[in-house]
Order: sequence, then C-alpha cells, then structure tokens
Amino acid sequence: MKLDDVLQQRLQVRAMQENLRALKSNDLALVDFSSNDYLGLARSATLHKLIQQQNLFFQNNGSTGSRLLTGNHALTEQVEKELAILFNTEAALLFNSGYSANLAVLSSLPKRGDTILYDDLSHASIKDGMRLSLATRLPFRHNDVSDVEKKISAAAGNVFVVVESVYSMDGDKSPLREITDLCHLNGAHLIVDEAHSTGCYGQGGNGLVCELKLHDQVPVRIYTFGKAMGIHGACVAGSRNLISYLVNFARPFIYTTAPDPHSVMAVKNSFLFLAQHSSLQQELQERILFFRSLTKKLEALLPSDSAIQSLVVPGNTNVKNAAERLNQCGLDVRPILSPTVATGTERLRIILHTYNTNSEIELLAQQLHALS
Ligand SMILES: Cc1ncc(COP(=O)(O)O)c(C=O)c1O
Repeated sequence: MKLDDVLQQRLQVRAMQENLRALKSNDLALVDFSSNDYLGLARSATLHKLIQQQNLFFQNNGSTGSRLLTGNHALTEQVEKELAILFNTEAALLFNSGYSANLAVLSSLPKRGDTILYDDLSHASIKDGMRLSLATRLPFRHNDVSDVEKKISAAAGNVFVVVESVYSMDGDKSPLREITDLCHLNGAHLIVDEAHSTGCYGQGGNGLVCELKLHDQVPVRIYTFGKAMGIHGACVAGSRNLISYLVNFARPFIYTTAPDPHSVMAVKNSFLFLAQHSSLQQELQERILFFRSLTKKLEALLPSDSAIQSLVVPGNTNVKNAAERLNQCGLDVRPILSPTVATGTERLRIILHTYNTNSEIELLAQQLHALS
C-alpha cells in the first residue's frame, strides 16, 4: 500500500472518532477566551517596542549552534543568572520550549531502577519525557495526596514525584505543601512544572512554588514563557549541579540549536515589563472572581480559581457544537477533545485574561448557561 493510503486510512479513523484536527487561523473578530496570553503581554504594544529597541543591538539573527558549540552567548548566560535570582535558585538553564524542557528533565534524571510517580492529568510533554527514560512510571490519582503516600513508600530506587502547579486542562492547583512534605518525609525528589503559574503568581511572576515559599524544597522546577509571559521558551531552575547535569546528559538540550538572541532578549524584557506592571496579577484574579460569581449554578464547570476554567461537555461532537455556538455569539472558546482529555470529560477550555471586559465575561457566562 502507498504511504499516502496508509496515512489516509489512519486519518479516517480519527474522522470517525470525531477528532480529526485541522489548522485554522484565529478569527480576530472574536473575543479571546482561549489563548494562554493570561496577562495580555503577547499583545502589549509597550513590551513589543521594548523588545524591538533592545534587539537593535544584535547583529546575529540566529544563535548558530548548540549551546555546547557556538550557540552559547554572553546574553544567554546573563539572562540565566537573572532568572536564577528571580526563581530563588542557584542556577537556571534556558530551553526553546516547555516541551523540550520537560523532555530534558524527565528523560535524563530518572534512570533504570528509579521510579517516577506522576499525576494522572500530567501534560503530554511530561508523559513523553518519561517514556524516554528507563525508570518505572507509576501514575497517581489527580491531586490525591493519599494515593501518592501509598505509592511513594513502596517505590524503588531514586523516587521522583512530578506535578504541575496549575493543571493545564482542569485549571486546579496541586496541593504543593502536602506533596512537598511527603517528598521530604520519604526522601523523594519533587519536580514541579510551573507552565501555567509562571507570570500569574509570585513576585515578578516567579510562580506558585516561590509564592508559597517552598523553593528550597523543590529541587527541579520548569518555567515556561509562552503563556503568561507572552513570548516563547522556557527554563529549568535548580541547583548548579542540576544545571550542570542537564548540560551533560539532557539530549533535548544538547542536540538542538540554542535559543536565538532575540528570543533571549524577549525573555529578559517580558520579566522586566511584568515587574513594572505587577498589578496585572491582581487584575487577572479580579476577572476570575467575577467569572466565578456569574457561573455558580453551572454544575459542569470544574472547580478552579486560576485563569483556566473548564466546562465539561461530554462527547467530541457535543463539545464541538457547543464551541461553535459560542463562536457564533462572537466568543473564541475552543473545544478540547478526547483523546487529549479522557473520554467523557471533553470540555470547553475557557481562558480568562486581564483584557477581557466585564461585559464580555457577562456575555460568556450568559451563553454558557444557555448551553446547559
Ligand atoms: C503543563 C505544561 N507543561 C509544558 C507545556 C509546554 O510548554 P511550551 O508550550 O512552552 O512547549 C505546556 C503547554 O501547553 C503545559 O501546559
């Protein structure tokens, strides 16, 4: 059979399951309730100008190589030092994306004979990273501390526990204090993915671990910049030994072209910008509270006090139709289909932003009620 026919057959299976995907451009006429630009930094003209001005100093368009060869620039090292200070760690290491940072951490730290305990609802980048490791992988029930407790004491080798401070699909938070205590008690190593808390929480946007003052107890943290920071990239923060280990053993760090100077400058400036506009975090919380106050009666809305709000509409066809109805009312809300989420938990993933007005949020709440 020709390759194209093989592929077409597989695509047809997806179509039959109502989850065939296709790329579509954003409809800018719709109100944004779906991007990860929580604080509006991606659309900030001021930040854009700041980055452009700074970029005039660079003659290199690209980084020209892996960090271990020609891709290591003074600017990159300087920004990493600044990130380490921000995140209260000894060191930090930049990555092109959160996906590659998670791949790097999870493929290289746990070895054969070790155990990784991970939350059931972990992001695909965590799952893909673990699959590249030879360690034993054991899921625990989402945010269920007693399940972690049961599994942690029986786990073999070096034990790694992986959580997200804010879960990307449900929007709820990890019980970080309890998990940290459990890890401490059992000598396990905690890895926290701060993708959806970077920028939104903590001083200067340094995330939930720092906000809760747990930074000394979380040896490995992943921060991403493509969401609230409005740009692109990620970093891993931890001890000097952790960073040196990744530089030596993490293939997603070694075998790729280093971030270009423009992206690195964007990282520096987006954190500078946020430090100067710290009220954005509070503004986001106000939007979230307002939305929750209007949607108390929506039983299918999952509990969440973050910018990620999910309304469960079981079934791929149903959730696609629901999103379509909201689109027709001028609201950009996207459906999340299975298998991205478990069958039966397909949902509208609603994202609140600082730039959503009260009347837009009112219209959204009204239309969500009309769906049920
Ligand atoms: C929890 C989590 N970790 C990591 C990532 C990957 O980050 P990036 O988009 O920078 O690759 C995402 C992205 O959606 C995420 O939700």
